[in-house]
Amino acid sequence: MPNVVAVVVAAGSGTRLGGEGPKALRDVAGAPLVVHALAALAAGGVSFAVVVVPALRRTDFERALAAAPLPHRTVVGGAERQQSVLAGLEAVAAGTRIVLVHDAARPFVPAPVVQRVIDAVRAGADAVIPVLPVVDTVRQVTGETSVVLERTSLRAVQTPQGFNLDVLLASHHAALAAGLAATDDARVCEFAGHPVTLVEGHREAFKVTEPIDLALAEALAASRTGVSR
Ligand code: C5P
Repeated sequence: MPNVVAVVVAAGSGTRLGGEGPKALRDVAGAPLVVHALAALAAGGVSFAVVVVPALRRTDFERALAAAPLPHRTVVGGAERQQSVLAGLEAVAAGTRIVLVHDAARPFVPAPVVQRVIDAVRAGADAVIPVLPVVDTVRQVTGETSVVLERTSLRAVQTPQGFNLDVLLASHHAALAAGLAATDDARVCEFAGHPVTLVEGHREAFKVTEPIDLALAEALAASRTGVSR
């Protein structure tokens, strides 16, 4: 069975979370978010990770990652997520066929989600995203006016997203040349003309973004280990 490599982007500052230092190094249940993320990917079948880190904190990340249960290397990211992903992709070993791109800020993605994404790429899909129905009513605001969007047709997009490595690399280069700014990698593939395949995501793959998400992450970690706090 071919190896699956994950690019784990961890080079963001985490401004919305507040507090000191990079978000991915924030401790939850005794380990940094990025270590939880690598453990979750390993449980889902990933065999190696390229972790994309901020230039000024590389040593701190390497020290924290020594405890990660997945072989890995680090590379330095860029100012935007898209640049960080491309830096990671360029460090993936040639000959790799399947690559996952995952936010370090989603530390508790369940193994079945990771497996579903890998299986769909293995079955021939170029780009695979885990999605969830949207629970809130959503309105699109333009200046002073707003319109409601039909909720039943909306999906929230999570990571890990899975790709054929050659397709994703070529798509990122095309997006860079065209000046496309995208907040996820499936959008980059779609821009380059590739279809996107949807699989079922999971609420536990939520992104730690704001302080309330840290409380949720602690509670989830405690419930999984059976420890009540
Ligand atoms: O900012 P956002 O929540 O979209 O970030 C998602 C993920 O992308 C986070 O894990 C963050 O560390 C990463 N990121 C990055 N490089 C950036 C910005 C974000 O690796 N320049």
